[in-house]
Amino acid sequence: MGYVGHRPALEVVLGGLRRLEYRGYDSAGVAVLAGQGLAVERKAGRLTNLEARLDEVGRDGFAGTAGMGHTRWATHGPPVDRNSHPHRDVTNRVAVVHNGIIENFAALRAELEAGGVEFTSDTDTETAAHLVAHAYDAGDTAGDLPASVRAVCRRLDGAFTLVVTHVDQPDLIVAARRSSPLVVGLGEGETFVASDVAAFIEHTRDAVELGQDQVVTITRDGYRVTDFAGEDVDTRPFRVDWDLSAAEKGGHEYFMLKEIEEQPTALADTLRGHFGDGRIILDEQRISDQDLRDVDKVFVVACGTAYHSGLVAKYAIEHWTRLPVEVELASEFRYRDPVLDRDTLVVAVSQSGETADTLEAVRHAREQKARVLAVCNTNGAQIPRESDAVLYTHAGPEVGVASTKTFLAQIAAIYLVGLALAQARGTKYPDEVAREYDGLCAMPDAVARVLGTVEKVRSLGRSLAEAKAVLFLGRHVGYPVALEGALKLKELAYMHAEGFAAGELKHGPIALIEEGLPVVVVMPSPKGRAVLHQKLLSNISEIQARGARTIVIAEEGDETVRPFADELVEVPAVPTLMQPLVSTVPLQVLAAEIARTRGYDVDKPRNLAKSVTVE
Ligand code: AGP
Repeated sequence: MGYVGHRPALEVVLGGLRRLEYRGYDSAGVAVLAGQGLAVERKAGRLTNLEARLDEVGRDGFAGTAGMGHTRWATHGPPVDRNSHPHRDVTNRVAVVHNGIIENFAALRAELEAGGVEFTSDTDTETAAHLVAHAYDAGDTAGDLPASVRAVCRRLDGAFTLVVTHVDQPDLIVAARRSSPLVVGLGEGETFVASDVAAFIEHTRDAVELGQDQVVTITRDGYRVTDFAGEDVDTRPFRVDWDLSAAEKGGHEYFMLKEIEEQPTALADTLRGHFGDGRIILDEQRISDQDLRDVDKVFVVACGTAYHSGLVAKYAIEHWTRLPVEVELASEFRYRDPVLDRDTLVVAVSQSGETADTLEAVRHAREQKARVLAVCNTNGAQIPRESDAVLYTHAGPEVGVASTKTFLAQIAAIYLVGLALAQARGTKYPDEVAREYDGLCAMPDAVARVLGTVEKVRSLGRSLAEAKAVLFLGRHVGYPVALEGALKLKELAYMHAEGFAAGELKHGPIALIEEGLPVVVVMPSPKGRAVLHQKLLSNISEIQARGARTIVIAEEGDETVRPFADELVEVPAVPTLMQPLVSTVPLQVLAAEIARTRGYDVDKPRNLAKSVTVE
C-alpha cells in the first residue's frame, strides 16, 4: 500500500499492512519519504518482525507523511530480508513495492546488468526499481515520475501492481496496475493506494478501482489516473460498504468462498510464464532435459486434496509421456518400501510445503537416489527446500482449511511437469505440447463461466443439508474428482461421503443405494471417450432403479443425460483431460453450502488444521 497525507505515514502504512497480512506474510517492509531521503526497513517473517526491527533502529528516522509498505507472498526468490520489498535502485532514490509476476524480468535484468547495474536480490521486482530510476534520470521522462512509471510499465510483461516513490517527489506516489488489483482510497487531505480496500477502510470508505493498464498519481489533495500512454482516464468513485472482516474476505462470508472465486486467477497465475520460445519452461527446474529423458517411472506423493491432484494428473502424464505413473499417499509411501532409483522422478505435491508425511516421503525418495520435484504453493517452505527442484503454484495464500484454488493450481502445475517430460522425451511434438499448453490457458475462462452458474448448486446444497450421506461416482479423470468432492463434504459438513470409481458399484458399493440417497455423478464429455459416457449412464440406471437421487455434473448441451438426472448441473465443454478443472468447482460450492446451511465454520472445520506438520 501507499499513503500521502497529513499523518505520520509509518503508522498509517503499518496499520494497513496488518489488514493486508492475510494476503501474504512471509516478509514485510516499509519506505517513508523522510527529510531529504528515503527511510527503508524490511524483514523476513511476519509483520511483527518488521515492527520489532523498527523499534530496534528507532522510528524517528521515519518521520514523514508520504510512504509505502508491502507484505509479501513470495513468487521469485525465497522469503529472506534481501528479497523483501520495498526494492530500491542503486542510488536509493527510488523505492518500489510490487504484487504479481513480471514475466520478462530475466531479460530486463540481463540488459540492466550489461549496463553495469548490480542487483541485490533474486526478485523480479528489483528490475522495476532500476528501470524507473533510469527513466527518471534521462530522456523525455526525466524528472517526471508518472511518465517514468508509464514508460517502464510499457516494457513489462506479466501481472503487476506497482507502487513507486522517488526522493525528488516527496509529495506524491505513483501506482500502476495490470492484471493485479489496485484501489485508491480518497480521504480528507490524504490519499491511499492498496491491493484491496481492507488496507484503508478504517480511514475512508470512498474509493476508486483502477482498470487494466492504468497509472494513478496520488497527492494529499487527490489523484489522477491515466492509461499507460498518458491519456487521462475517467474514474467512478464508489462507497465501500463492507466492514473490515468482510473486506479481507472480498465481501464473502468466508475466506474459502472468496478462494473458490479466485480459482480463475490462481490457474492463470500458475500457468503464466511457463511457455516461451515454443517450449514449456519450469521454475528453478534444476532437472536437466537429459535427466527428464532418463526418467523411467514417475511417482506422485501427497496427502488429501494434493493426493487427488496427483490422481488426476496421472491420466495426463501417462497419456502424454507413456511413462508409468504411480500416485501414492505420502503416509504410505515410505512404509511400502517402494521401488525407486535415480531414474525415478518423484513429484511431491503440497500447498503448505510443510506436511510432515510428504516431507518424510521426500526424504525417503532422496535416500533412494530418486530425483524429487516439489509442486508447492509456499515459497521457501521445507519441502521445496529439500527437493531437487520446485514448480511453484501461484494461487496466493489459501486461508480456508479446505483446499480449493490450490487443488486446481496443483493440477495445472503437474500438467506442466507432464508436458515438460513429453517435450524432453519427444513423445509429443512441440506443436502438440504448445496446443496442450494453450488448452490449459483457456481453463481460467472456463472456470470463470462455471462460477457464474453455481447459484443453482447452492440451492441444491441447502436441500441436501439433512442428508445422512452422499456418494460420488466418476470414471477416468472423473474418478479423482469424485474422491475430492467426497473429501470436501466430509471435512466441511462432517457428513459421511464417499467417492467411488463407478465401475466398482457392482463390486460392493451398490449395496449402499437406498431410496432418496443422493448420488453425485461426474460425467465425461459425450464427445470424449464415448464408451465411458455410455457405461456411466448404465451405472446411473442401476442406482436410479434402487431409488437414488441422482445429481449429475455434465457437459452443457449433453441432452442424453437429462433422463438420468434428478438434478442436472452443467459445466462448459472442455477437453477430457481438462474436465476436472471445471467439474470440481460445483462440488466445492455444494460442500460449502451444505456446511453453511448446517451452521458450521466453513473456514475452520472442526479437528482440522491447514497444515498437518505432524505424522
Ligand atoms: C484438503 O481440503 C485439506 N486441506 C487437506 O487434505 C490437504 O490437502 C492435505 O493436508 C495436504 O496439505 P498440503 O497440500 O499442504 O501438503
